[in-house]
Amino acid sequence: MVQKLLLIYVLLKYSIGQVSLDFYPAVNQVTPKIKDETKNQTGKSIGITTYTSTTLNKILGPIELSWYARRTANYNRAMDNFLTQLKVGIVNVDASLNFRQLMTKYNRNTEVYEVFTNDGYVLSLFRIPGNGTPIFLMHGLLGSADDFIIAGPESGLAYLLSEENYDVWLGNARGNKHSRRHIFMDPSEALFWDFSWHEIGVYDLPAMIDFVLEKTKRKELKYIGHSQGTTVFFVMTSQKPEYNSKVSMMIALAPLAFLSHAHSPVVSLLAPGTAILQTMSRGIRILEFQPDGILANVLKQMVCGSGTLAEIICRNAIFLLSGFDFAQLNVSNLPVIFSHLPAGASIKQLVHYGQNSLFNEFRQFDLGSEGNFQRYGRSTPPSYDLSNIVTPVWMFCGRSDWLSARQDVDLLRSKLKRVAEVYYVPFETFNHVDFILAKDVKPLVYKRLLNILRTY
Ligand SMILES: *[C@@H]1O[C@H](CO)[C@@H](O)[C@H](O)[C@H]1NC(C)=O
Ligand SMILES: *[C@@H]1O[C@H](CO)[C@@H](O)[C@H](O)[C@H]1NC(C)=O
Repeated sequence: MVQKLLLIYVLLKYSIGQVSLDFYPAVNQVTPKIKDETKNQTGKSIGITTYTSTTLNKILGPIELSWYARRTANYNRAMDNFLTQLKVGIVNVDASLNFRQLMTKYNRNTEVYEVFTNDGYVLSLFRIPGNGTPIFLMHGLLGSADDFIIAGPESGLAYLLSEENYDVWLGNARGNKHSRRHIFMDPSEALFWDFSWHEIGVYDLPAMIDFVLEKTKRKELKYIGHSQGTTVFFVMTSQKPEYNSKVSMMIALAPLAFLSHAHSPVVSLLAPGTAILQTMSRGIRILEFQPDGILANVLKQMVCGSGTLAEIICRNAIFLLSGFDFAQLNVSNLPVIFSHLPAGASIKQLVHYGQNSLFNEFRQFDLGSEGNFQRYGRSTPPSYDLSNIVTPVWMFCGRSDWLSARQDVDLLRSKLKRVAEVYYVPFETFNHVDFILAKDVKPLVYKRLLNILRTY
């Protein structure tokens, strides 16, 4: 217990000062610093480890919604608007439909395939068939194939691609809700979660890409990744250079490899090393990332302050991780977003990002010097050799991206051989998840993306 309190103290102390809260001017009930009472709250929440991945409907529920509604008089107009839009969204049945059901509703065929990786994971690979070039979409951290449809049929990238008759394939990394299977391990076992994005890059992606090429009898496909979906591509093509020739072009939405300039408090929390989260997770004996009482409360205060609006949004781990862009948030779509995201990930994925952030490197998982010697035959983990990547890369970046900072993208660009373009979305507050969620993602990002696909 004392040990845990100490850990929390270190967590809090380390993160104060690195947190910027000026990203949503519409909310004025923001506390810019962590208050003492947060520590209290945090202390109290130790021991509570049950985190339920709920939908917004469940979170607000009829009782809580009226609680918020009763209080709107005390809040500013933004809050009123927010709740009005949210109420519109709450009746949206799309929040209760899964990927296939949504496809049926919006008149798309879907196919679902099982893909086995060389290390025994069983992945679900989704397809919206079309006659055109196969395009492979890979989701980001905590996400799933759903990421490319949650913006709705007007804006979702998978819909737009299928309208243009591309053969759309959507990957699901191990550990997300569609890929929680292994030939002999169960997600209730810690060992199931013993992977980071390295394994997704060297096992999951190659298995899925080979499957697509075999099924379509093609020699190559086009690849679009978001966030971690770009990281795993860089891992794959640097570790297994033969995959360069299987991907004719790569479009990176919010490219993520180096992170030493990332603003996300989660990344700063994990940066001090693996010890913190791994100690925490040993306590609950599972390595799945589930922001429970401890972590969620600390982060909520740091990322969102104490405004009600922030409080609602920041119940979702994805916003805790990457912040949010109020200007581009489609509030009436929040129930749909909350019911599909987060989709699951292992703690090691976050820790691995934290390590890279601390060391300003894009390299394999650090197991400590002894572990490193055993696994890599050296005291530090080897870096990914980005010069192996010869697939041309188009990058789309946000000016207010908490995870993919400009300096880090510049460094990545300087190490890649064939960067066709780095495009900054012309919207000041555009953030990491805006690439899949923003109200204006279609005019701001996808319109240009579709043009690139047509041209190259
Ligand atoms: C924490 O809570 C206790 C009891 O509720 C209170 O006496 C104490 O002053 C609080 N500490 C801080 C730092 O807020
Ligand atoms: C916002 O969300 C609603 C509800 O899901 C959806 O109907 C609408 O098309 C979305 N707006 C945009 C611009 O995509």
